Amino acid sequence: MASTSFQLLAFVIAGTLSQVWGTESVTAMYGETIVIPCSDGGMAAKDLMFIKWKYEKDDGTPGDLLIKQAHSDQATVQATDNYAQRVSIDDKFSLLITQASLKDQKTFTCMVVSVSNLMEYPVSVVVHKKPSSVQIMDKSEVLQRDKLTTVGTCVATDANPAATITWKKNGKPLLSDGKAVAINPSLKLDPATGLSTTSSTLQYAATKDDVNAVFACIATHESTNQETDLEPFPIHYPSETVNLEIKTPVAEGDNVTLKCQGDGNPPPSSFFFHIKGRKVLVENSDTYTLTTINREDTGEYKCSLSDNEKLEASQSILVNYLDLSLSPTGKIVKTVGDPLPVKMEKNTSGDAKVSWTKNGVAVKEPEFSKLTYADAGIYLCEVSTTSFTRHQSFELVVEGKPVITSLTKHRVDDAKHKVLTCEAEGVPEPSFQWSINSTNEESSYINGKAIHKITVIPKVNLTVSCSVTNRLGEDVMTINISSIFEEGEGNKDSSEDLEDQSKLIVGVVAGLLIAAAALGLIYWLYMKNSRQGSWKTGEKEVGTSEENKKLEDNNHTV
Ligand SMILES: *[C@@H]1O[C@H](CO)[C@@H](O)[C@H](O)[C@H]1NC(C)=O
Ligand SMILES: *[C@@H]1O[C@H](CO)[C@@H](O)[C@H](O)[C@H]1NC(C)=O
Ligand SMILES: *[C@@H]1O[C@H](CO)[C@@H](O)[C@H](O)[C@H]1NC(C)=O
Ligand SMILES: *[C@@H]1O[C@H](CO)[C@@H](O)[C@H](O)[C@H]1NC(C)=O
Ligand SMILES: *[C@@H]1O[C@H](CO)[C@@H](O)[C@H](O)[C@H]1NC(C)=O
Repeated sequence: MASTSFQLLAFVIAGTLSQVWGTESVTAMYGETIVIPCSDGGMAAKDLMFIKWKYEKDDGTPGDLLIKQAHSDQATVQATDNYAQRVSIDDKFSLLITQASLKDQKTFTCMVVSVSNLMEYPVSVVVHKKPSSVQIMDKSEVLQRDKLTTVGTCVATDANPAATITWKKNGKPLLSDGKAVAINPSLKLDPATGLSTTSSTLQYAATKDDVNAVFACIATHESTNQETDLEPFPIHYPSETVNLEIKTPVAEGDNVTLKCQGDGNPPPSSFFFHIKGRKVLVENSDTYTLTTINREDTGEYKCSLSDNEKLEASQSILVNYLDLSLSPTGKIVKTVGDPLPVKMEKNTSGDAKVSWTKNGVAVKEPEFSKLTYADAGIYLCEVSTTSFTRHQSFELVVEGKPVITSLTKHRVDDAKHKVLTCEAEGVPEPSFQWSINSTNEESSYINGKAIHKITVIPKVNLTVSCSVTNRLGEDVMTINISSIFEEGEGNKDSSEDLEDQSKLIVGVVAGLLIAAAALGLIYWLYMKNSRQGSWKTGEKEVGTSEENKKLEDNNHTV
């Protein structure tokens, strides 16, 4: 409507300046009412008789539309065709035509007839229509790299004049270059309505940089743009290299997974794996697993794309292994004093470190030429390489019949009892038996050494035996103990088992006494010989008897 009134204004100005120039033009919108102004020359004429609107038919002949008498309110419609129902005139003598269509793009002429004059004002009518829709059809899902792919077809429907379509990428216009960009325009005219549908198909060869590119179609009609954007496309491209991945190091017994990958997008999902001369097709997966691999599987492995076997990757697998054999193993029972050869053999694909432990404590590699009870224990040999660790072990038991190593007595100062200690070595653990009733038995058994203590109260001089037994044999030892009551009366030596220091002192004193006695004896013999020439053996003297008793006791304690 705005354009119509603008045209009217232009027409008025043009008409007053020069009516000879003829045709003015009016642009109307499709479907709306066309308002075609008549020059105001008609209004100016004082002697106006009537105004008549007519038009030029397609064949060039004139067609009548309507007539209006100068002093009549009503106009007379003369048209008999399709215009009969659509035309009318307003108070400014403008012709109104409803339901504008492209068929109305003709020249309409306003004839102003006065008494003195007849003027004709032709007006050509143009009907414009915006596209009823702008859409992108046949949109692509993805773009192929370096390969012309249809991005989509942009369609601007039913416009007049025809809309123009341009394409943009990231806001910059795309122009057909026959290589990376191909734009195919087409135009279709609806024969019934005369409206134009414009289409444009864009083909594009993508590059890696187009991952986030936004393509847009711009439909331009009457200098207004209508833009339709497309979401960025994933870019697809074929693989150029293949990679075979294997986790190393590989140890015998492992499950080894071969992983094949192509660098295309989308990543390839079907592969051939070349496994020792066999070609295995794997689909919908990029891995192949070699279960419980062994040393014979060392070698080269390959994979290729199932749809392009020229793209191939290869990788070597070195299967590390470690054999360890140990002799003996398990539980072994040996007799004390025997030799035991230990043999450890290893066979490995690389460097190996050997270590030994006995009962969890690091030791050197064991060698047993003559077994002792202390050798008993659990021996573990560990061999390790970068790939793995192997263990072998044996439990050594050293057996032997019991042997008593010592039997001692001890009297605690002033106590009315004595403690006898019997020590023996033997495996299995020996049992102790004493020839005397006792109290406070105490025993221990560590590393084949058994210690048994008893407390006794000897009322008379006794010979006590300690006997030890296990299933391999027995041993016995005896010891003489004197009555504590007699010794108690003597009160000379309350302790039979003296401390080392007191033993030493007693020894020194005894030595001195012996020396003194010897001197006395020599002197006495000398005197006797010099007096009588002979001497009696049974003769006893009090001092010497005391000394002898002491000596005897001391000997017992050693
Ligand atoms: C190897 O694979 C087999 C079968 O797939 C499985 O039974 C075994 O436990 C695996 N071994 C290792 C070391 O993963
Ligand atoms: C070690 O193992 C390899 C592979 O099994 C074998 O060829 C070789 O003879 C073995 N060596 C010894 C000393 O056992
Ligand atoms: C040990 O004691 C028992 C009774 O308790 C007795 O019959 C036995 O004669 C005693 N043996 C010795 C050697 O004293
Ligand atoms: C016991 O032995 C001591 C010496 O050790 C001796 O003097 C004493 O006479 C002995 N007693 C008996 C009853 O034999
Ligand atoms: C114990 O005394 C007896 C005599 O009673 C004697 O024959 C034996 O040799 C003595 N034993 C020891 C170890 O002194």
